[in-house]
Formats: sequence, C-alpha cells, structure tokens
Amino acid sequence: MTKDWNTNIYCLIGDPIEKSLSPKIHNYIFEANNINSVYVCFNINAKDLKSTLDSFKILGIEGFNVTIPHKIKIMSYLDEIDDEARYLGAVNTVKNVGGRFIGYNTDGLGFIKSLEDRNIDIINKDILILGAGGASHAISTKLALEGVNKIIILNRTLSKGKKLASEIHEKFDNVKLECDTLDNFYKYLDIDMIVNCTTIGMYPDIDSSPVDLSMFNNDIIVYDIVYKPIKTKLLHMAERMGMETIEGIDMLINQGLLSQKIWFNYEIDNLFKDVDELKKLLI
Ligand code: ATR
Repeated sequence: MTKDWNTNIYCLIGDPIEKSLSPKIHNYIFEANNINSVYVCFNINAKDLKSTLDSFKILGIEGFNVTIPHKIKIMSYLDEIDDEARYLGAVNTVKNVGGRFIGYNTDGLGFIKSLEDRNIDIINKDILILGAGGASHAISTKLALEGVNKIIILNRTLSKGKKLASEIHEKFDNVKLECDTLDNFYKYLDIDMIVNCTTIGMYPDIDSSPVDLSMFNNDIIVYDIVYKPIKTKLLHMAERMGMETIEGIDMLINQGLLSQKIWFNYEIDNLFKDVDELKKLLI
C-alpha cells in the first residue's frame, strides 16, 4: 500500500534493537491486510524513556512494542496498565487510546501459545528459568498460572531473581520456588525444561551460552527466547544432545500477532492466517 499523509506509525523501542525482526513481521501484516501503517525501530536509551513517550504523544503514535531493557521501567510512565500486564509485571505492547498510553503484555500468552502449538504439557513440570528481567517476569508468572510444579530462577544478579521469586510466591503459594545465581546452574539438573530469558547468546554475543547443557539429561526441552540468531549456541548444543528445542522466533511471531490484535481489535485469524509462511519469510 502506498504511504501517504495519513499513514500511521507503529514502532519498537529498545536498546539494542539491532537486527530486530519485528519490522518484518508487522510490515508484512500491514501489507497483507491493506493497513495504511508502517512499523519502524527506535534505539532508546533508558534515560530518554519518559521524553520518548512524551514525543510519541505529540506525534500521535498509535501503538508500539517495548523490548530489552525497558519492559519493566516503562510501566511507571504509562497512563494505564491492563490487568494481565500488571499481573505479569512487564509491558511489551502499548496502545494509544484517545491520547492515553495503555500498556499490555503479549509475551506471556505468546510463550504459552508456542508450547500449545507443540502439544507440550507443562502442568506439574519443573522449569529452570534463566534470567529475571522483563521477559522472565511475564514467562515465569504465566508458567506459575498454568500450574507448573516448580520454578527455579537463576540470574546473574541474585537480588533481582529473589525479587521475582517472591513476587510469584505472593501470587501462587502452591508453586515451589527456588532462586540462585546463574553460575550455580549445575545444582539444578533435575528439571523438565530450560527457558533462557537472558540476553546471553544474542547478537553480537553469538558464541556465548548461559549454561553448559552437557550436564543435563537429554530428555529435557530447551527453549531459548533469544531469536537473533534464530538458532543460538544454546539451541545448537541442545540439538546435538538430542534435546527437544524451541526457537525464540515462535514466541516473537505469537506476541507480534497478539500486539496487532490489541492495536486493531481484530481476531488474529483475520489478520494473518499463514504463520508458517511468515516464519519462512523471517528465517
Ligand atoms: P528482557 O526485556 O528481554 O527481559 P531485560 O529486562 O534487560 O531484558 O533482562 C535481561 C536479562 O538478561 C537479565 O536477567 C540480565 O541479568 P541481570 O539481572 O543480572 O542484569 C540478563 N543478562 C544480560 N546480560 C547478561 C550477562 N552477560 N550475563 C548474565 N546475565 C545477563
């Protein structure tokens, strides 16, 4: 569709946003649905977050996504936060409603959808979560809500991991919780699934892995939410060991489609039917 004076701007704010696939996803959906909008990326330093939001209001930006490292901090600058995002403790999608910015979270649901698509049952399972940032907040809380047995949170900064664990414990006292530093991962080998929510392994840090998988049994599932590169060092290692793997791009596509649903009040099926085609386009 030709861009004109009436074209709406949607965008991603984060730091770094280099190599983000979100513009490809959203611009493809705009084209496929004849929506007169364009999606771009802005690298925003944390100190400029508030002034960025003020500028977005002046420019009349209709909606945007939020990524590393702003998903938690942005909550203090929004006019309203919907129940799910407040519950999950992070915002990755914002919608402009009559000049007011409302925060949503599509990470949690996007993550769960990618498990459902594979018929992976997490009820009563023990899950090792690596990281305690915005994505980890949404995913860990959603896993607790879905009825896992135990969540072990490992984070470089122990205090942040402890804070997240106590937030989850307040909401779900039936879920077992443990917390430790990332380098103590070898103490927690008896688990069903690992979810990497750290940025370790993300471009340009592509030769790093958050844990050494060779110490785990090969019947575990390894999910890396990092999607640049599509196959991270952790996933390569998991594949070599015969473990089931899930790529971050699955969650990225799901959360992107759910963001579109929030912005345009459409059913996802009406927006884009062939998710596999979209995935092929991105890989
Ligand atoms: P996101 O929005 O994707 O969750 P974030 O909120 O910035 O991003 O969180 C990034 C996560 O990656 C954090 O858990 C961070 O650990 P700290 O809490 O200790 O900062 C983790 N992380 C980033 N770089 C790391 C590194 N080099 N080693 C270990 N953990 C790292």
